[in-house]
Amino acid sequence: MSSSQSALALDPTALRTAFGLYPTGVVAVAAEVDGVAVGLSANSFTSVSLDPPLVSFSIARTSRTWPVLRRATRLGITVLVDHHQATCRQLAGPAGNRFDGVPYSTSADGAITLDEGIAHFHTSVHEEVAAGDHEIILLALHDVTVQESGAPLVFHRSTFGRLA
Ligand SMILES: Cc1cc2nc3c(=O)[nH]c(=O)nc-3n(C[C@H](O)[C@H](O)[C@H](O)COP(=O)(O)O)c2cc1C
Repeated sequence: MSSSQSALALDPTALRTAFGLYPTGVVAVAAEVDGVAVGLSANSFTSVSLDPPLVSFSIARTSRTWPVLRRATRLGITVLVDHHQATCRQLAGPAGNRFDGVPYSTSADGAITLDEGIAHFHTSVHEEVAAGDHEIILLALHDVTVQESGAPLVFHRSTFGRLA
């Protein structure tokens, strides 16, 4: 092993460091539930299947938002743009303030998407798979809208960046 390499233990802090080396985008997962906008930021979003169209994200079992959000008929997914750092933090912060000053739209069936975003998906929960201290949420796609231009927010080493 070279001096620039180091073996890490499998404790949560070390794993968070190692997992954080894999760069991701970030999405907002959101819906209106009982008349209230509910949502969170997630960087575990990934594409899963083309036929049927499926995407997924992982949610911590400790999440207080997911038990509410999962009741929505439709969930909106917004791929955040590169200037969404503060919005992303806000959507991960105190639940009562997550949508303060954030322009968003609500579909007739309750999916919430941010007005800015390089892609918008309307989804519904297809399956919830137990996965350790998280659950993998498989989402069926019902509608997709993409922007022809714009750059994604990138999450890497616990900080935000953008594509060069
Ligand atoms: C960049 C970023 C990415 C995140 N990704 C996830 C994720 O993939 N899964 C998850 O459970 N929480 C993720 N979170 C944390 C959630 O946004 C939220 O803070 C957490 O679910 C706690 O809030 P809750 O109890 O209301 O769910 C992320 C936070 C940030 C800032």
